[in-house]
Amino acid sequence: MNFDAPPADPIPVFHAWFREAQQSVLPNPNAMTLATIDPDGRPSARIVLLKDLDDQGAVFFTNRESRKGRAIAAHAQVALLLHWDPLDRQIRIEGRAALLSDEASDAYFATRPRVSQIGAWASRQSETLRDRETFDAAVAEMEKQFEGQAVPRPPHWGGYQVSLDRIEFWQGHHYRLHDRMVYTAGDGGSWSTRRLFP
Ligand SMILES: Cc1cc2nc3c(=O)[nH]c(=O)nc-3n(C[C@H](O)[C@H](O)[C@H](O)COP(=O)(O)O)c2cc1C
Repeated sequence: MNFDAPPADPIPVFHAWFREAQQSVLPNPNAMTLATIDPDGRPSARIVLLKDLDDQGAVFFTNRESRKGRAIAAHAQVALLLHWDPLDRQIRIEGRAALLSDEASDAYFATRPRVSQIGAWASRQSETLRDRETFDAAVAEMEKQFEGQAVPRPPHWGGYQVSLDRIEFWQGHHYRLHDRMVYTAGDGGSWSTRRLFP
């Protein structure tokens, strides 16, 4: 990324940086912070895995009845943050989270290991769990229920696609003389760029 002459489209820049992160020593280069606004207006944040990014948005998968799912149902506006320490880079994304289609959620669910598929049925993510045995028993029950058959995607589990309304590339430099470039989405797939003080 040439910060003196930023490319018109940020998506190839994202993928170039992402490839470099994949080639670095990072165990989970697609781990990102997802920040949401709870129904009562308070912010909350957690890590999720980025599974896809194109001009339609950034995709992650989760339990839609979890705390984050309930937050998104109340406030679709979310922020995503990827931090790649060995590269001294971060990418900040802001946009609206929409439900990914059933077809795309089904397709991704089908690629998950069977134990993870069973876990998606057994976990009432974010609800109070009395003890580990309760969860283990729920897993065992689901294993019995789906014995000898493919595990379908649970109705409460699926993807979200976050529109790329704003995407900022941050490259660290010595003595805090960092580079920052913000892309803001305009009409018809156009982008405007703005350089920021570090
Ligand atoms: C490296 C890493 C990757 C994770 N990936 C996901 C993910 O893709 N989807 C997910 O629902 N939770 C993922 N989690 C767990 C979440 O951080 C979080 O604990 C969980 O989704 C419940 O969050 P909530 O109660 O705010 O809804 C991941 C955690 C870590 C540390």
